[in-house]
Amino acid sequence: MSPKTFKIKSFGCQMNVYDGDRMAELLGERGMTAAADGEDADLVVLNTCHIREKAAEKAYSDVGRLRREDGSKPVIALAGCVAQAEGAEAKRRSPMIDVVVGPQAYHRLPELVAEAARGGRPVDTDMPAISKFDAMPPRRRSAPSAFLTVQEGCDKFCTYCVVPYTRGAEISRPWDDIVVEARQLVGGGAREIVLLGQNVNAWGEEGRGLAELIRALAKIDGLERIRYTTSHPADMSDSLIAAHGEVDKLMPYLHLPVQSGSDPILRAMNRSHSVDSYLRTIERVRAARPDIAISGDFIVGFPGESEEDFTATLNLVDAVGYASAYSFKYSARPGTPAAVMEGQIAREVMEERLRRLQDRIDANRIAFNQSTVGKDTQILIERKGRHQGQMIGRSPWLQSVHLETAAAPGAMLDVTVLSAGPNSLAGAEVQKAAA
Ligand code: SAH
Ligand code: SF4
Ligand code: F3S
Repeated sequence: MSPKTFKIKSFGCQMNVYDGDRMAELLGERGMTAAADGEDADLVVLNTCHIREKAAEKAYSDVGRLRREDGSKPVIALAGCVAQAEGAEAKRRSPMIDVVVGPQAYHRLPELVAEAARGGRPVDTDMPAISKFDAMPPRRRSAPSAFLTVQEGCDKFCTYCVVPYTRGAEISRPWDDIVVEARQLVGGGAREIVLLGQNVNAWGEEGRGLAELIRALAKIDGLERIRYTTSHPADMSDSLIAAHGEVDKLMPYLHLPVQSGSDPILRAMNRSHSVDSYLRTIERVRAARPDIAISGDFIVGFPGESEEDFTATLNLVDAVGYASAYSFKYSARPGTPAAVMEGQIAREVMEERLRRLQDRIDANRIAFNQSTVGKDTQILIERKGRHQGQMIGRSPWLQSVHLETAAAPGAMLDVTVLSAGPNSLAGAEVQKAAA
């Protein structure tokens, strides 16, 4: 019997969240409905991440957990980057998996599920020339903040990373398609659009780059905010930096992963930037937009990383003054050059370095949050808080702001920041003086 209800669980990066939404829209268009919270679904799509070993292994334990008490199970589709990396091997590892579908093939999900309902076990990890985006229904409803994939794939081949293999070569979606989708999202309730790409600042079409695209999107009425993520330091163009100083709707926040504060490690990682060139980029961005918040990604324990290399990373964190940052223990991924490099680092060493790095990042983040206390700023209300009458919004610098207000999700509100915790701010609505 073909499934009538579905559930999609997305892991990993924001692009998977975007892909998960698009799969839900596609299944919805074909007459299926999303299962209610806490209810069994006929079809479960696990939209997986392959970036680190733990994330990849989680995919299989999640599959195992889908067996119901009576021994039955839903139709199970393995999607995302684990599906791409493992292909047919995934079916051998878990007999419970019915469909394997990669990130560039999910527009075929309804057909693949139908094939599974007829008893097949299809695998589709093609990277077809015709883009999946062309086969997708229009966007109809949107949360106040919406993701929009504009660029996908990666040609950078950092020596530790699986993304160039799971997402394929860099492609830029066409300008016109992006503008159409942005308008649909705004029509459906979005006030903020987050442009997504594995190397979003490598987006380009006929000489136009991300800066030109941002300037065009800023002209859409009803769109209040634009963000973009994730950028590669080597692709921060002059025009993009200038846009930060000139486009009001472009938020003062830049996620710019650096990975390490040591040049020999950056070289071994094939990052194509140095510590110095990274710092100079940050300087130029800050000259264009002095209040910009910087965030980053770090890997500790890359093969050959000495205590001295690691100390350089700690120093870089303080030199930049991050508003936030993600940090990870290096995970050796099959098929990547770093996995067979000499000087693999012991787990205990990685754990100890990760703790020290995270302490340093926490201190940076707390200092940044404190620096916004007492300021008046504007927030976008995104959702209800835990308490009666409480709402949660986002500051321009991507901090969560909790406050009491009657305003609904989607409202832009002037607030004063009253206090700062490590992970959020408390604010109060600015009272408008009577005219
Ligand atoms: N350029 C991509 C990076 C995606 S991966 C993007 O920016 O979206 C996100 C982060 O995961 C990377 O910046 C890196 O810090 C981390 N990462 C990637 N491969 C890793 C590995 N093998 N082990 C540990 N962390 C890794
Ligand atoms: Fe991975 Fe490097 Fe590409 Fe980012 S730039 S996706 S870390 S290979
Ligand atoms: Fe993970 Fe694939 Fe994103 S490996 S981080 S889901 S691109």
